[in-house]
This record gives sequence, structure tokens and C-alpha cells, in this order.
Amino acid sequence: MNKVLITDTILRDAHQSQAATRMRLEDMLPACEALDKVGYWSLECWGGATFDSCMRFLNEDPWERLRALKKAMPNTKLQMLLRGQNLLGYKHYADDVVEAFIEKAIANGIDVIRIFDALNDVRNMETAIRATKKFGGHVEAALSYTISPVHNEEYFVDLACKLEEMGADTICIKDMANLLLPYDAESLVRALKARVKVPIHLHTHNTTGTGDMTYLKAIEAGVDIIDTALSPLANGTSQPSTEAIVATLQGTKYDTGIDLTALSDIATHFRKVAQKLKEAGSLDPKVLNVDPNTLLYQVPGGMLSNLISQLKQAKAEDKLYEVLAEVPRVREDFGYPPLVTPTSQIVGTQAVFNVLMGRYKMITKESKGLLRGEYGMLPGKVNEEVRKLAIGDDEVITCRPADLIEPELEKYRAEFADIVKSDEDVLSCAMFPQVAPKFLKIRDAEPVKEDAVRELIVEDLGN
Ligand code: CO
Repeated sequence: MNKVLITDTILRDAHQSQAATRMRLEDMLPACEALDKVGYWSLECWGGATFDSCMRFLNEDPWERLRALKKAMPNTKLQMLLRGQNLLGYKHYADDVVEAFIEKAIANGIDVIRIFDALNDVRNMETAIRATKKFGGHVEAALSYTISPVHNEEYFVDLACKLEEMGADTICIKDMANLLLPYDAESLVRALKARVKVPIHLHTHNTTGTGDMTYLKAIEAGVDIIDTALSPLANGTSQPSTEAIVATLQGTKYDTGIDLTALSDIATHFRKVAQKLKEAGSLDPKVLNVDPNTLLYQVPGGMLSNLISQLKQAKAEDKLYEVLAEVPRVREDFGYPPLVTPTSQIVGTQAVFNVLMGRYKMITKESKGLLRGEYGMLPGKVNEEVRKLAIGDDEVITCRPADLIEPELEKYRAEFADIVKSDEDVLSCAMFPQVAPKFLKIRDAEPVKEDAVRELIVEDLGN
């Protein structure tokens, strides 16, 4: 038997990819008992954009959500997605903040932490890996998958070996844009299985319509774990559906052992949730369309919609195809960064500026930071002429960027002392200094006392 293990993303990536991360805890809890019994390898339910979305849009405490999910699903490993040294934010944090965050994530219920870096610079993953080990979590180190002259199979196999040496318990191929085509997946998984001892976990989407085939070829090549989403929020920009894969493998040597009837009952619940999200305007039916532009331009779905909205704002929508042709040129100049948060935004915005104002006439602060090495080492050779235009004779950072950041946990503790009630709150504020304090104020506001209100009304009537 070569049983394939399943991670279901219904509580994280599925609604992040299809419904702007708007699923609420109250929509999750009724299904938790059943989800806990399915026999998943893990349930992805935290991290990514959920933390920000909880506080910004849903008025929910992300830590409270995690504790509630853990209580409701004590038998299944809970998994989160973490952006290495950036945690869940958009900048590098000092090591003491990274360590404190991971300690609290594990203490509140997380079992598996999928750690990635946008540039595949392992130095940006070091502290997170070490801390996850220290606090007893499972380290899933991810390869940010992309295609370029420097990103070939050998590159990813070497990277996986390095991450295994650093302590990874599993290796994930993170194909955020569904660029990994079925036969390339077969070949990559086979190469990884030959060199890496720990299990291989594959994450893809169905944006270009090849997701299910990619999984099937990877399974035949020996992949151990795959990410799928229950059907009500599956496919399109989300993951291939759990039910389709489970049914496909039934009775074969890859049989997942998962009961389709149990999945059907849970899907009934999430169909109602998806309907609710659609009615609230969070679920755009467009996300279900297969988007072949991704295959042509290797631009992830989310980045494409960003580019369109930037061009709309500049009243230059007719320039979309020029921008799409400029993206790979900027990417080449910048040393072929994979296009994932935050590099997708940096490269995309620079391409828009180049088309609208002339090449590198205007260089964004973020592009300069990337070329200065603030985000880590760029995978390929940088165009030195462009770098010179961007940062002049400034020194390029070659050390691990976080080595330049002094410990900062105590600074955050002092800064937010008046509004926080726990270390968890401090970490929320450190990552989202605009959003978290507002949220904490609402959460901790004195509830309006009914008696007091009644007294006021009575008084008012008396007058
Ligand atoms: Co994803």
C-alpha cells in the first residue's frame, strides 16, 4: 500500500483563494467534529491572510479562533502557513519576535508550521525552523515553486536537501500559481524522492485547470501528502476538490482510506457557508473560471487581478498586454524572484510604472529594497545597470537581513502596553500595528449594561 495522505484547506487557503478570507469561526465550528473524524493528515486552518482578515474584517480574535478550533478538533493536526522571517506580516522581524510568535502559535494549538520564503533564501527560514523544533512543532519547509532559467529541477532538489539538513520534518512543493504541470510534477517528485528522506507534500491550485492531473502524476511518482479542498470551495483559484481525489484513488494502492459519505455530509454544511459568502459579495464566481493567462504569462491569478486594478486606476487598461510582456523583463532584471507575496506585488508594480512612464524612470521604494538585498538573496544574476539606477553606489546587503535587526519584542511590549492583555495581543500589534490596536479597543470595550440603558430610558420617559 502506498496510501496518499490528505491535508484539507477548507478552513484556510480555500476561502482565502475564493472568498477573500472571509469565513468566520461560527461557519467552521458546526463542521469541526465531523472534520476531526475524517482521518486527514492535517487541516490547514490558520496563518496566511486569516490572521489579518480576522481582525480587519471579521472582528474576531485570531488567537481565540485557534484555541476554539483546537478544542473542537483535538485529534487532527492543525496546520498554518508562515512567511518565514516575515511571520504573517510584510517586513522582516527580529529573531526574538519570530521565536515568541512560534512559541505562542504552538501553545495555542498549531501542530504543523509550513514555512516559506518568497526568494527561497533559507536564511530567512532558519529562525522559524529552529523555533518550531524548540517548541515541539512539526516543521514543514516549503519550496516556493516557479519557472525561470535558474529554477530547474536540480535547483529545487538542492534546496530541499538543504532544508532537510536544517531540520525539516516534511518538504512541501508550494505551487501557488498552478505553474507545475503534470509531467514536470512527476519528474520533480521522483527526483525529490530519490534524494530526500522526509515525506514530500504537494500544494497546488486549479487556476490553470491542471491541478488534478498534477496531483495524479505526482501520486504515481510517490508523493506522500497532497492539499485539497472540500468541493464547495474547491477548484479555480482554490485547490482541486478532496472528493474527486479520494474517489479517484479508491480501491487503488494509493487509497486514502477516507470515507466519501463522511465528506459528503461535511460538504453539505460548507455549501451553505459558500452560499452565504456569495450573498455577502465575498465569493466572486469569476474565481471558478480556468485562467489560461497564468500559463502564458506565468503571472499568478491574484497578481493578474492586481495589475488590472492598478491599470484601471491609471485609466490605462489598454496597456495590460504591454504590462504582461514587461513583467518577465523586470523579473529577469531583478534576478528571477518567484512571484509570491511580497515579490509579486513589487515586480508587478514596477512593470506598471515601466510601461506608463518609461523603463525605470520611476523606481519604487520596494524595488530598491529588493535590489539592495533587504529581502534576502535574489536567486539569479541581477541586471547591474538597473541596480545602479535604483540604489546608486549604496552597499548591497549580503548578510542574513534579520542580522541587522536588534531584538524588538520588549520595544513592542512597551509600545502597546496600554491596550494589550497578553503576549498574544503584543504579537498581533507587532504584525499589524494599524489594524490590531483598533480591533483590541473594540474587543475590550465595556459591554453596554442593559440595566443602565433601561434606567436611562425610564428616566427619559419620566421627564
Ligand atoms: Co496556496
